[in-house]
Amino acid sequence: MTNSTPGVPLPPPTTIVIFGASGDLTQRKLIPALYTLDVEGRLPAQYAVIGVARSDFDDAAFRDHLKAGAMEHARVRRGDEAAWERFAGHLHYCRGAYDDPAAYVALAGQIAEMDALCATCGNHLFYLATPPQLYPVVVAQLGAAGLNRRGDGFSRIIIEKPFGNDLAGGQALNQQVHEVFDESQVYRIDHYLGKETVQNTLVFRFGNAIFEPLWNRNYVDHVQITVAEEVGVGGRAGYYDAAGVLRDVFQNHLLQLLTLTAMEPPAAFSAKFLRDEKVKVLQAIRPMRPEEVVANTVRGQYRTYRDETGVAPGSTTATFAAARLFVDNWRWQGVPFYLRSGKLMPAKVTEITVQFKDVPHKLFPAAGGEGPRPNFLSFCIQPNEGVHLRFETKVPGAGMRMRSVEMDFQFGEEFGAAALPDAYERLILDALAGDASLFARADEIELSWQIVDPIQAGWDAAARPAPTGDWRTETAPPLEFYEKGTWGPPAADRLLRQSGRHWRLGCFKTTDL
Ligand code: BG6
Repeated sequence: MTNSTPGVPLPPPTTIVIFGASGDLTQRKLIPALYTLDVEGRLPAQYAVIGVARSDFDDAAFRDHLKAGAMEHARVRRGDEAAWERFAGHLHYCRGAYDDPAAYVALAGQIAEMDALCATCGNHLFYLATPPQLYPVVVAQLGAAGLNRRGDGFSRIIIEKPFGNDLAGGQALNQQVHEVFDESQVYRIDHYLGKETVQNTLVFRFGNAIFEPLWNRNYVDHVQITVAEEVGVGGRAGYYDAAGVLRDVFQNHLLQLLTLTAMEPPAAFSAKFLRDEKVKVLQAIRPMRPEEVVANTVRGQYRTYRDETGVAPGSTTATFAAARLFVDNWRWQGVPFYLRSGKLMPAKVTEITVQFKDVPHKLFPAAGGEGPRPNFLSFCIQPNEGVHLRFETKVPGAGMRMRSVEMDFQFGEEFGAAALPDAYERLILDALAGDASLFARADEIELSWQIVDPIQAGWDAAARPAPTGDWRTETAPPLEFYEKGTWGPPAADRLLRQSGRHWRLGCFKTTDL
């Protein structure tokens, strides 16, 4: 074992229970993250992981099932048999149906055994990695079995996205969860908040004095947030065709990135203050009226989407979305926030770009005679993780011509290629430590659905036949098809071009694409 992170105390001994333990998320993300934390010495010496699922495993078969995932996806020590064997000793299995009270009696017994073995003082962390329709079932059963109760230790629950399907669904789920767990016990995960580069937006903004004075409507022309993926829906069509891009990544990842970019400095870095500020941004986002949806959103579908296995014939589910949002507050009045996300794009890239206003008076001609050359600052969330600033410089030689140059900071170069932990490592550790700063609060979830629902409603209405003269036929955006390896339908470019802007990717050299 290497040393734990200096200055970060180890979490207390805990029994971690994963529901959905035979599933993909557990195998590809949760166990590799726990294994990495274990070999890096960031978990306590005594802890237990109990996997719960319906599959017919015993402890040995469960460990075997998980090994391949850890060996493939862990950040460190992938081929280390001895490290795996040591870690696997912490893994146990409890077979049961999620709605069967008897399964929870058995689980409670197994938890008690682990508590005694690991001296956990009754610290329990439950992780819901099941399909979302099972969340209320598992939560209710945990309550009925008394596993929600805090004794000497803690009882916390991590709940994966999607948290509801719309505002009504999000509210209902919040209510069901609150009937069993107090909000302080609930950790709603959005793995984007676990990304180091996402957290760096806060450090960059509030740990430096030089940028914050510019971070407002006086200096910022607009903000762009891109979450582009190279992959299609793959084996997830069953889920995706019902969800679509707005529910899959807009309601959560994109809006979270927006709140971190737009929020006011919190009084302290604590879960309450941080989430209070994010909530204020969500409250300030101008809700879209139905007739505004066409002018402010673009919905696209990649050309071969309907051929994917599991996609309904003639499906109108969007795999690409772009939207223009406004944050109606003192700082951001009139500054558009352009958000876009799509599948089957030319590259996997997540980035936040802040484009500054042009200089008020031009003294120097641009080499090549091009027009305005605003400065822009990009947070490269992934890949090429870092920060990138574009500014103007004098072209050497006679005259005073200028041209744009780039200033780059890359995490990999500064801290080493393997320095960036996986998001799940950070988030599991935070939940064990009782720090909910990087998890969504109940009100955040509901407010973000309030922003997404009217857009989705406009799109859904557009998909249904409407009488002539109805706003839906005239103002709902058409579903536009786009080719694999493009940045979405042409309408996405028009959304910016109509105000003389265009999409930028500061974190890529054009030759990378
Ligand atoms: C998930 C979405 O939340 O995020 C997926 O459900 C998407 O559709 C994924 O592919 C992207 O995450 P990342 O970390 O690979 O950018």
